[in-house]
Amino acid sequence: MKLNVVDRSGASAVVECAPGQSLMSALREKGYPLQAICGGAASCATCHVYVESPWRERLPARGEFEEALVEDTYHFRQDASRLSCQIDLSEELDGLAVIIAPED
Ligand code: FES
Repeated sequence: MKLNVVDRSGASAVVECAPGQSLMSALREKGYPLQAICGGAASCATCHVYVESPWRERLPARGEFEEALVEDTYHFRQDASRLSCQIDLSEELDGLAVIIAPED
């Protein structure tokens, strides 16, 4: 499957990745500098991305912990804010478009 990714410099790229992993894992595997300090446990928010429409509306709503953490990223929080570790990649998300959020 493919992901459309805009990095922190504004550069965009189409990257290929395997489904069955988190978006955070796929982005890190491709060298994007997400710290992901908690390893995907939804407790650090260092995997913050912005999911572009219409993909944003297709994803399951934020869970309780994700919502709380996204609120804490108040400097950069947007409606499009998601924790990439909480997004499971499947073929249905082929073409998912995300922007790597600034470091908080
Ligand atoms: S890796 Fe820590 S919240 Fe996603």
